[in-house]
Amino acid sequence: MSVPAKVRRIGVLTGGGDAPGLNAVIRAVVKSAANCNCEVIGLEDSFDGLIEPNRWRRLVPKDVTGILRVGGTILGTTNRGNPFLYPIHTSGGTKDYSARCVEMFHELKLDALVVIGGDGTLAIAHQFSKLGIPLVGVPKTIDNDIVETTNTFGFDTAVAFATDAIDRLHTTAEAHHRVIVVEVMGRYAGWIALYSGVAGGADVILIPEIPYDIEKVARRIRDREHMGARFSIVVAAEGARPIGGTTTVLKAAEGEYVERLGGCSAVIARQIEALTEKETRNVVLGHLQRGGAPTSFDRVLATRFGARAVELLMEGTFDHMVAFHPPNIAAVPLEKIVGRTRTVPPDFDVIRTAKACGISLGD
Ligand code: F6P
Repeated sequence: MSVPAKVRRIGVLTGGGDAPGLNAVIRAVVKSAANCNCEVIGLEDSFDGLIEPNRWRRLVPKDVTGILRVGGTILGTTNRGNPFLYPIHTSGGTKDYSARCVEMFHELKLDALVVIGGDGTLAIAHQFSKLGIPLVGVPKTIDNDIVETTNTFGFDTAVAFATDAIDRLHTTAEAHHRVIVVEVMGRYAGWIALYSGVAGGADVILIPEIPYDIEKVARRIRDREHMGARFSIVVAAEGARPIGGTTTVLKAAEGEYVERLGGCSAVIARQIEALTEKETRNVVLGHLQRGGAPTSFDRVLATRFGARAVELLMEGTFDHMVAFHPPNIAAVPLEKIVGRTRTVPPDFDVIRTAKACGISLGD
């Protein structure tokens, strides 16, 4: 890769599903770059900002004032549109939009990019690195499933929201002597379910990593009934599945859209009601978990990620992702994270803690 003599103009973009803290990263990038006399160009809607003309704007510290606490992303995002998957047929042969992105990168006179995104976006970033674009990745997802970092920003906010929802559902479940199944996000990893379930005092937590036996779930609810607790809270990750069964798919993958999960809580609630004869309701928290203001933990993490990303560009460390290795922010080669998912290890301490406190994992 040709290394620019000095990074003087950085492009920044946000890709994939949003997560609270994206704006905090953008703000930190803009402010710390300004302190290094470096210009920042905000690219809109992920890599679309490098494909279509006029989808970029200069960002100066004044433009990012007040966005630290705001959810979403001022640059927009998309979880479709991988430039490497769009063939363009020309008289000169077949190319894809990646060539256009590289061209645009040079037209905009950018020296480097900060790519803020989840595993998909970071994999695209790594491909652009291989094409000679100097860049640093910043991991984001509420699901917390990116390897090589103990936390992604957005996760803490999602857990805080889900915990608050569980607290509220507790009082109504108790009042009506009902079972309530709360469905949280987490396609392949049960981090949100596990942490919000423990924080909210759930009785059952179902995660994709540990397929469940519905009979055991029902037994836990009956046992509670026998000891006088006439209500129960079940927290299920959207990717939870029964032993030998499959996940609940809302919409099959189609074209550039990945499969949409959702609805497992309705299935689980019906089965619990049939097995326990207890009135059971289900609630899907859905995108509420992705909205709202980031927690102070996520604001600090996102700010540290943004500042460190600029630092790495300034020192000439490219094709890396910033990562939280407590208490430090480290740099991990992007090739180490591509194609991998950080799932909850079955012998993880928090799983053991949950079980020690009588929470059923359905196994
Ligand atoms: O990646 C985070 C996530 O929240 C997943 O848990 C969920 O399945 C997905 O995004 C939904 O994304 P969207 O509805 O934006 O396609």
